[in-house]
Amino acid sequence: MIIIMLGAPGAGKGTIGKRLAVQLGITHLSSGDVFRALTKDNTKLGEEIKECINGGKLIPDKLAMQIFEDKIVKYNLEKGIILDGYPRTLMQAKHLDKLFKNMELKVDIAMNIDVEDQLIIDRIVNRRICSNSRCGEIYNLKYGKIPKVDGICDKCGENLIQRADDNEITVRDRLKIYDENTRPLLKYYNKRGVLWNVHSAEDTSIDDIVHQTMIHIEDMD
Ligand code: AP5
Ligand code: MG
Repeated sequence: MIIIMLGAPGAGKGTIGKRLAVQLGITHLSSGDVFRALTKDNTKLGEEIKECINGGKLIPDKLAMQIFEDKIVKYNLEKGIILDGYPRTLMQAKHLDKLFKNMELKVDIAMNIDVEDQLIIDRIVNRRICSNSRCGEIYNLKYGKIPKVDGICDKCGENLIQRADDNEITVRDRLKIYDENTRPLLKYYNKRGVLWNVHSAEDTSIDDIVHQTMIHIEDMD
C-alpha cells in the first residue's frame, strides 16, 4: 500500500501518517524530516536547504527529486510506504510516477487532509516536537496531543522544541506556496481515481481521521 499524504502545512500529515504507518505496519517517511536532517550537516547543501525551510520556501524541484529518489530506492517497498510531504509539485508527482512505474508500483491513495487556514495557523504556532530526531513525536499545546508534562516528550522523556518555521509569518508564506504549487496535485490524483479527502475541523479528533481512513483502506480490498 503506497500512500501519499497531501494537505497544507499543519494539516496533520505527520500526525496521521505516523499513526497509519503503525496500524498498517509500513514505513512513514516525512520529506520535511529528511530535509531537516540534512541541515544538520555543515555543508553548502545543508545551508541551502536550511535557508529554504526557514524562509518557508520549497527546496528546488531538481534537488528535492534527486534527494528523494536516492532515499526511496533504499526502502523495501513491497509492503508499502507512507510518503508525507513528497511530492508537492506537479513535476515531483510526475517524476515519482515514472520512478514507481519502473519499479512496477503505483500510488494507491493520495490522502488530502483539508483544514481551514485560521485553524492551521493556530495549530502550527502551538505545535511542539520532540528534540530527539529518532523519536520526533508531534505535540500541540492546545489541540489533539497535549504533552502530559510541560516541555517533555511523553514517549522518550527528551525536551520538546519549536520548529524554526513554526511562526505566523512563515506559515502564511507556506500556505501561499501550498496553494500555488501543491493544491494542483489534488486534481492530478483525483483524475487517477486515488484521491481520498478528509476534512479536519477543530472538533475532529486524530482518532476519527485514522479510523475513517482505515475503513476506506479496508473497503478498497
Ligand atoms: P514539512 O515538515 O513537511 O512541513 P509542512 O508541509 O509545512 O507540514 P508540517 O510538518 O508543518 O505539518 P503536518 O501536516 O505534518 O502537520 P502535523 O501532523 O505536524 O516541510 C518543511 C519544509 O521542508 C517545507 O516548507 C519545504 O521547505 C521543505 N520541503 C518538504 N518537502 C518538500 C518537497 N517535497 N519539495 C520541496 N521542499 C520540501 O500537525 C500540526 C499540528 O496540529 C501538531 O501540533 C498536531 O499535534 C496538531 N494536529 C494534527 N492533527 C490534529 C487533529 N486532527 N486535531 C487536533 N490537533 C491536530
Ligand atoms: Mg509534518
